[in-house]
Parts: sequence; structure tokens; C-alpha cells
Amino acid sequence: MQLFKPVSSEPVSGVPDMFHLRNCFDPQQVFDLTQLVVDRSPFRHMQTPRGYTMAAAITNCGVVGWVSDRRGYRYEPIDPETGTAWPEMPPLLFSLAQMAAQRCGFDDFAPDACLINRYAPGKGMSAHQDRDENDFTQPIVSLSLGLPARFFVQGSDGKGRSTPIDLASGDVVVWGGASRLFYHGVRPLKPGIDPVTGSCRINLTFRKAG
Ligand code: SIN
Ligand code: FE2
Repeated sequence: MQLFKPVSSEPVSGVPDMFHLRNCFDPQQVFDLTQLVVDRSPFRHMQTPRGYTMAAAITNCGVVGWVSDRRGYRYEPIDPETGTAWPEMPPLLFSLAQMAAQRCGFDDFAPDACLINRYAPGKGMSAHQDRDENDFTQPIVSLSLGLPARFFVQGSDGKGRSTPIDLASGDVVVWGGASRLFYHGVRPLKPGIDPVTGSCRINLTFRKAG
């Protein structure tokens, strides 16, 4: 069994090495696998180094998980909430991420971390770089589940014109190479009800952290 539907990848216009794959997995299947992770390492709101509470609730699966607290941002092998290892990355999700990356020209992507973000209506994520990983030759593979969202990309200094990408449940965005360190974020979510997730959006981003 595999979850990836072999759709074509669309280059995102104006953003080098970024691709949008529409409707390339079944949201219910990915949601069910995500629930197995959440049952063991629940969603929680982490603190930023400056003491703010992050708008998105997060959890992780994989060998290491991304965490934020007063000491900074980093990857950790232990979930600080449960005191045990993060749940294993479901093999079906690993291969879905790998196949999506391959479709965009990134061969042999082997993610060891998957950050799972959950957004309620009104919540988003401000522009940031994904730069806590050790190997920037590896891409980021980002899956969207549930309510639609407007993702945006802003270039390498976070100051340029922002390119919007409207993401639906079942979509994937892959970026690497020249855009690997581009600033990106998510506009506040519009209210709604999704048949799979209810009144939220869930995003899974696969990374090679170690
Ligand atoms: C992120 O950049 O970590 C999240 C992106 C998204 O929610 O689409
Ligand atoms: Fe990010």
C-alpha cells in the first residue's frame, strides 16, 4: 500500500525550487495515521524563546521532534511533555513524503522528523525560516489536511513581495535548493468545517533534521 497519488508537480511561479502538488493523498488516511501519533504525544502550545505562546498547537513524530521553549528552538529526541521518545514516524507517511519529494526532483529524501501543526480558525504562523536542521541540501515536504489556508513565501530576507499559495486538504508543498531557507508563513485561518478534521487545519512538515 502507498498513500501517494502520482499527480504532477507544479512549479510555484516566482519561487525557485518550490512545487505545489494538488490532491496527492487521501486526507482521511493521513488524518488516521496522525491520530495515532497524537494519541501518544498530544498537541500542545509551546512557548517561544521570548515568552509568547505559539498560535498553532504542535506535536511531532520521528527520531527527533522540533521544540521551542525559553532556551530556544531545537530538535529533541524526547517529548518534553511525556518524557519519552516521540512516536515513530508511520512508514506510510515516510514514504508519502519521500515520493512527493522525488516527484519534485529531490531524490532519496529521508526525513527523520515530522512537525505537526494544528491551527484553529483565526490562527496562522508569521513569516519564518526553517533553519534548525543540519542539512540544507534536503528539502521540506509539507502536507495540508482539513480547512484550506493561504500559505505565503517571501524570499530569502523576508522583506520581498510575498507569493500566496492557496492550499487545500490533500495538497503538498515541497521546497528545497534555492528556496530552502526562504521565509514563509500561513495567513490566519478562515472559519469552517472540514469533513475530516472538523474546525481546524493540520499541517505535517517532514524534515531531515540530523
Ligand atoms: C510551517 O512552516 O511550519 C507550517 C506551514 C504550514 O502550516 O503550511
Ligand atoms: Fe516553516
